[in-house]
Formats: sequence, C-alpha cells, structure tokens
Amino acid sequence: MKFVINKAKKTLLNNRRRGYTLPTNNKLYPAQWNWDSGFIALGYSYFNLNFALKEINTLLDGQWKDGMVPHILFHNTKTNYYPNYTAWNCGNKIHSSGITQPPILATILKEILIKNKINKTQLSNIKEIIKKIRKYHEWFIKFRDPKKTGLVSILHPWESGYDNSPIWDEPMNKVKIEKNIKYKRADNKVINPDYRPLNIDYDKYVTIKNNLKKNKYNPKKVYKSSFFNVVDVGFNSIFLKANKDLVTLIDAFGFNKTKINNYIKLTEKNFLKLYDKKKGIFFSKDIKNNRKIYVPSITNYFVLFADLNNDKINRKLIKNLKKHNLKEKYFFSSIKPDHKSFEEKRYWRGPVWINCNWFIYKGLKNKDKFFSNKIKSKTVQMLQKKGFFEYFSCRNGEPMGAKNFSWSAALYLDLVLNKS
Ligand code: DGY
Repeated sequence: MKFVINKAKKTLLNNRRRGYTLPTNNKLYPAQWNWDSGFIALGYSYFNLNFALKEINTLLDGQWKDGMVPHILFHNTKTNYYPNYTAWNCGNKIHSSGITQPPILATILKEILIKNKINKTQLSNIKEIIKKIRKYHEWFIKFRDPKKTGLVSILHPWESGYDNSPIWDEPMNKVKIEKNIKYKRADNKVINPDYRPLNIDYDKYVTIKNNLKKNKYNPKKVYKSSFFNVVDVGFNSIFLKANKDLVTLIDAFGFNKTKINNYIKLTEKNFLKLYDKKKGIFFSKDIKNNRKIYVPSITNYFVLFADLNNDKINRKLIKNLKKHNLKEKYFFSSIKPDHKSFEEKRYWRGPVWINCNWFIYKGLKNKDKFFSNKIKSKTVQMLQKKGFFEYFSCRNGEPMGAKNFSWSAALYLDLVLNKS
C-alpha cells in the first residue's frame, strides 16, 4: 500500500504546474478545473498543506467580481483545448470559462482543517479563503435561485461536471444547434472517441456556450435566456452539504452566517419536493421545459452526502442504492446498467467514477457503517489494481479516459489515509 500511496503523491506532483494542478498529464485537460482542484487540494493536504492551500488560492484568484468561481481557468493560453480562452472570451484577472462547477471548496476546506495544524500565516489566509467561498455561495443563491426556492439551477451540462450524463438527454433534445456552427474538438483526438461525448453533444454544448457569451455572461440575463436550465439533485446535494460545511467554518471564525443558514433551512424543506414518494427516488427538474427528469444516475444518491434531516428517506435511498449495480464486479456505475441509456464505456453514461464513490462513501459513514466501509475497500482495491485512471468499466474494471488522473489519486489518499 505504501508504494501506491507514493504513486498517488507523485501523480499529483507530476501534474502540478505553477500554483495549480492539471486534472491529468496528457493533453486532454490542459488547464485548472474547479472541482478537480478541490479534490486535488484534499489530496495534497495529506503531505503538503501549503500546496493544498495554494491550489485553492489559485482557483479563487480567478473568482469573478460578482462572486462566481469559473469551471476552468486558462493559466496557459497555448494549448489545443476546445473551447479555449478565446472561445469563452471572459475572466477576471485570469482567462476563464463563463460557467461554474459543483461548489465543493467549503467541504474540502473543512476536511482539511479537521486534520491539520495551522500556523499564523495559514490562518489569515484561511480567513480570506472563507470570505471568498461565502461570496461564491451567495452568488449561487442570488443568481441561480432568483425565485428563492432553496434549489439552484445549472445553465450548462458542463456545470454539473457529469457532462454527457443521460440526465441531460431530454433537456438537450430541445436545444437547437446553432446554424453553421464551427469549432474543432481536441478531446476525441487524445482519447478514444468511443469513450467521449458524441459530436452532437458538443454541437449543443457549444451552442449553449455561444448563447451565454452573447449575453455577456450577465448572471441575471442568462438565468432566463440560457437554452439549458436544470435543477439537478446531485448538484444541489453538493451545494447543501457545502453550505452546511461553510456554516461550520464561518462559526469557527466568527463571520456572519445568517444568509447561508436561512438558505439551508429553505433547501432542507424544498429538497423534498424533488422526492417521488411512490417510487422512493429523487428526480431532477428541467426548469426550461418544466419537466421532471427520472434517470437512475448515481449522482441522485449524493443526497446521502447532503445529510438530509430525514431518516426515513435516507433508509429508503440506501435500500435502492444497494440495487443500483451491486451485481456487477465494480461499483458504482454512473448509470444503472439496466437503464436504456446505459453505455459501459462512454464517459458519464455508465463508467465508475472515483469522486461519485467518494461522495457516497462519505454520505454513508454516519448512516450505514458496514456498507460505507465496503464501498471504501472496493474503491481502494480497484485503484490499486487498475491505476489512477479517469473512469472504469463496472463490468471488468477496464480503466478508461485519462491516465494519471489527479482526482483519482487525490481521493485515493483520502480514502486510505483519513482516519476519522
Ligand atoms: C471536458 O472538456 O470534457 C470537460 O469535462 C468540460 O468541462
């Protein structure tokens, strides 16, 4: 195990650039990604607290004036990635994308602080970080939930991080591809195209992006005019947990927490509106087209991570989770294998992802210790056997996507070294 731990550390260090870390060392993702950086920071915190804080600081250096933290920061502008910094054409101090990603920073920072001794310089830096994260969360509340429902919208599938998940199939079917659309994908030259989103998906990703750009990323305008507007269960679970963790951090440092606390109460109450009692499952909501989305995605179980104050629902969820894909050799598949949209090898339409297992493992720790330990050991064994790849087949563990994938390595470190 010691050998693999060292390999995980080396993976992160090899992917490290000036103050930030690439998601992988090949040409697939040549920039800094928002939630990748959060997981990566957690990994560093097991052997270099300053690198962990630097990762977060660099990400927050790209925070927009209104509070948004972009999903990509283009520190290096000479890459083949598409859409690159000119295709987005925005950013504050650092070239960036014009959308965000699941806000995990508060949760990550809380995890880091629980197990590390902090010196004076780090302490004052952490205070600044907390203020920026609070501003980020307030941006979500203000601009992504203008009707104050307690649930926030995402305006592009890329904001979820699970880009081509079948959850988006219905809302994406409604998106009309821009006429004469022109762009050049790079991702499917680096990775087997069978493992990546389809061209038609990209046509729509680019169409949605171009419309956001046309609206100058004005947060009020894009909420109403984006071709895509979905309240997603997984995303809102992550945000609810992050709000709870932010309040803990704010409490420890004596800042004002009223706004966030009130929002948590509203979310706890209205989250239940996304629960189908009869079926015992959560659904996402296509706000643009006013439709419920029922897709058996593993991300729906992030509700366990959100720690909803409802034992009955949590028990029901755990029961269903045990039927998700425990018959397969590796779990959890991103989509339930018996669903029509399941594809064993295509990105977020079937493969096992380490961050999903991590969210669920964490969520189950205080609810079903035995099951959570099983998830942990199966995930650790898979990584030890197959390596730190981006995703894996649930059928035979075939590693796919990018190799030397930073968050697989970082979360491996948390799974094996976190003693709490
Ligand atoms: C990609 O480029 O595939 C990313 O997931 C978009 O954020």
